[in-house]
Amino acid sequence: MTEVTRNSTEERVAPVRNAQLTIDPTFTIGAADRRLFGSFVEHMGRCVYGGVYEPGHPNADARGFRRDVLELTRELGVSVVRYPGGNFVSGYRWEDGVGPVGDRPRRLDLAWKTIETNAFGLDEFMTWAAEAGVEPMMAVNLGTRGVQEACDLLEYANHPGGTQLSDLRRKHGAEDPYGVRLWCLGNELDGPWQVGHKTADEYGRLAAETARAMKMIDPSISLVACGSSNRGMPTFASWEATVLEHTYEHVDYISAHTYYDPSDGDRASILASAVDMDNFIREVVATADHVAAKQRHRRKLKISFDEWNVWYQSRLQADLDRRGWVEAPALIEDDYNAVDAVVVGDLLITLLRHADRVGVACQAQLANVIAPIRTRNGGPAWRQSIFHPFALTARHARGTVLRTEPVGPTYETKRYGEVPVLDTVAVHDEETGGLAVFAVNRGDADLALQLDLRGLPRLSFETHTTLAAGADPAATNTEAEPDRVTPREVTTPTLDGGRCSVALPACSWNLLRFAPQP
Ligand code: AHR
Repeated sequence: MTEVTRNSTEERVAPVRNAQLTIDPTFTIGAADRRLFGSFVEHMGRCVYGGVYEPGHPNADARGFRRDVLELTRELGVSVVRYPGGNFVSGYRWEDGVGPVGDRPRRLDLAWKTIETNAFGLDEFMTWAAEAGVEPMMAVNLGTRGVQEACDLLEYANHPGGTQLSDLRRKHGAEDPYGVRLWCLGNELDGPWQVGHKTADEYGRLAAETARAMKMIDPSISLVACGSSNRGMPTFASWEATVLEHTYEHVDYISAHTYYDPSDGDRASILASAVDMDNFIREVVATADHVAAKQRHRRKLKISFDEWNVWYQSRLQADLDRRGWVEAPALIEDDYNAVDAVVVGDLLITLLRHADRVGVACQAQLANVIAPIRTRNGGPAWRQSIFHPFALTARHARGTVLRTEPVGPTYETKRYGEVPVLDTVAVHDEETGGLAVFAVNRGDADLALQLDLRGLPRLSFETHTTLAAGADPAATNTEAEPDRVTPREVTTPTLDGGRCSVALPACSWNLLRFAPQP
């Protein structure tokens, strides 16, 4: 490790470590699919009620959609939004959420011990999604329901007309079919907490039958079979193998879910969460490819990473125990700090790095519930720290993802052993000639990154945006101080013969943008 003294105007003198990164445009992984920048709206806590939807709010439109949340959703750059759950969907009757609102039933939601009013449902979600400019991704209930109800929902949503259910949609005001392309076959049915929890064989058979029938109604849809709820499940990998033996030929994706919990305060480990996500993806790919080999499929299955985030999970039980059956209680409204933002930025790097096999990814969730967007009922909406790396990655990761092999120091973690300090990915936009490099310094010292871009001649260094948690790792954005954690632009060095040295601050997420010289 080389010790370097920092600029004399800065307060502290920190050791600086060195790392190298060479970028070559021929080392391609795949297209940076827009669907990697998805989000998730579940009927849980205040994600829907008080989040995207709050009739009577001073900022709500005539339909009850919060305009401030719509604007932030667009700014976040979300592409796909999964709906309506999550655990919620496993006990949900979709018919409750269509037609005249006054006729809709109030029901017990067993997943979150909540009263569901059904004031917001499929029809509202589709209108909201169109307004937000996002692609809807629907989940069907394979917990308490089965093939028929999934087919009914698909017929209501996607069939043009001339049948009872498609005409019902038209009667409810949607003349044209909703044309939903992405469908999840249930949610986390490997989990004992799930209403309608199943064995892999039970779920695999049901998912295959449902998939076959749904594709008879609309062959253009893409289907997601449920993978494990997380990599730590005792049935992980054998669940995927069994489910795919039943479903491989009928589905397009296998799902993956993961949440990283910083509650124990082990900062070194939480900063290495992307190492775990990386291994998780490789293992699901290996399992899917094993089934493909066994069953002689040439088509490679992709992963729909349709729930991922940082989540202080230790707080969930307390939230649930604290109350009886109520409407839209505040649930898992985590306040994210600057370190969490670095972790989220790094998880996005991992998803991009697997762009060849991860086709969809949804950060969970969009508003209030472990979310980048926070609101107060009747009050304002603001950006949490984790909003920023997501928005910037969604905006600038355009084109082809390039494989990078950074060389640099490592450090020791309790959860994952020895891990690299530096994590990177690059995205090359062939249309504009621009290049975006995403880099996370997980370490507690600054990194001097020697960049070699000789494979991309005639680029100039445009901007270096950094979100650094080193100085104030616990800082959060609040209603009173909504911009305490934000990225800042720092001075960029000049590329000299395609090379330069960039300073990556301790514990930081960075976006380095290069543009072709005029
Ligand atoms: O996103 C919160 C919950 O986490 C979802 O409902 C469930 O699918 C997962 O366990």
